[in-house]
Amino acid sequence: MREDDTKARGDIARRLHQSVPLEQSDVSGRLVKLEEVIDRGLKTFIEVGNALREIREGRLYRYEYATFDEYCRRRWGWDRINAHRHIEAATVVDVLSFDNIDGPSNVAQTREIAPLLRKDEREALAVWRELREEYGDRVTAERIRRLVRGRMARLRREDEAREASEEKPTISDTDGAVPNIHCSDFRDLDLEPGSVDLLLTDPPYGSEYLPLWDDLGRFAAQTLKEGGVLAAYSGQTYLPEVMGALGEHLRYWWMIAVVHRHGKPVVWPRRAMNAWKPVLVFTKGKPECGLFRDAMLLGSADGKEGHPWGQPSSEAEELVEAFTEPGDVVLDPFCGSGTVPMAAMALGRRAIACELSPTVHRAAVERILRAGRDLSVDPANGTPSAASSG
Ligand SMILES: C[S@@+](CC[C@H](N)C(=O)[O-])C[C@H]1O[C@@H](n2cnc3c(N)ncnc32)[C@H](O)[C@@H]1O
Repeated sequence: MREDDTKARGDIARRLHQSVPLEQSDVSGRLVKLEEVIDRGLKTFIEVGNALREIREGRLYRYEYATFDEYCRRRWGWDRINAHRHIEAATVVDVLSFDNIDGPSNVAQTREIAPLLRKDEREALAVWRELREEYGDRVTAERIRRLVRGRMARLRREDEAREASEEKPTISDTDGAVPNIHCSDFRDLDLEPGSVDLLLTDPPYGSEYLPLWDDLGRFAAQTLKEGGVLAAYSGQTYLPEVMGALGEHLRYWWMIAVVHRHGKPVVWPRRAMNAWKPVLVFTKGKPECGLFRDAMLLGSADGKEGHPWGQPSSEAEELVEAFTEPGDVVLDPFCGSGTVPMAAMALGRRAIACELSPTVHRAAVERILRAGRDLSVDPANGTPSAASSG
């Protein structure tokens, strides 16, 4: 601490002790100084988040601790949620730092904007730009809260209006064998532990979604049967982090390459002309699967009609056949347009799926109901009807 700062602090303490009233300028000056200390401390919170993220993603704790959770608990006395909050804060700052605009500068700010970011990234970026343009460095958590609240309310109203204007398909939810297509966050699904044979899924890519992989690994370890398989599409950019997160909870088994037949989109930050995509296979214990191909050649345009990120159904069917038997339970917690439950139903497996977005969920349910007719599959029980099973 500088000498004049120490002196000022001493003066103020002495005058308080002697009940000498403080001048307004003394109070304001001291307030500014103390606020600078708080501001530095709050920024450190984000550095802590970045450090924790690197430790988790690089599994730098692995020589002394079995899991990241154990590391946080024993090294820092934190539970997973606390560590996750720090990491989320750092992730929010990353996402909202763009076009020479600095991201939030403290955790109170990241916490206010995180729900909007989870719901609609584009909207969150627009809100952040607006706040920075209007208030510059004087963006506060309160100002963010006010704007975010308004945007969330508007998005909710839009969702409701869209839902009201569409005719809802109905799907029976009473029979245990019904293909349950839930509209929720997969972390809120209430499934019987150890009840799923294959968890086949395609989570969203991008650094902001990295925390989901740890949750997905934990969720898979809980819901899969002993010997069950998680097969998950992943982007390439964050492969080490993704594999590290899944490896916390499950056993690495293999990686399948899905090779695009047409087109090689360039991943510009890495300058890669990307011609294939990994499907990561992790297991709970030792799977009893037959032989499977570890490279598939597919048309990249297949599957896009249902969802902008839709995966081809032939691919899903090959994976379902490789890792399950008829009657087994196949779960897709990020089902998008419903490609995986469709494939599962077509092959006589029982399907459970989940999708966060109400609009996408509705489209998936409609597609499944339609396909139920087209494929002669009874959507009420997920098994092929007599017409197609012979
Ligand atoms: C890459 S897309 C899946 C596309 C799908 N494979 C298909 O063929 O249509 C990922 C989906 O996960 C959904 N999602 C994101 N976060 C989620 C969460 N926490 N719980 C459930 N679904 C989520 C997104 O709305 C998106 O539709």
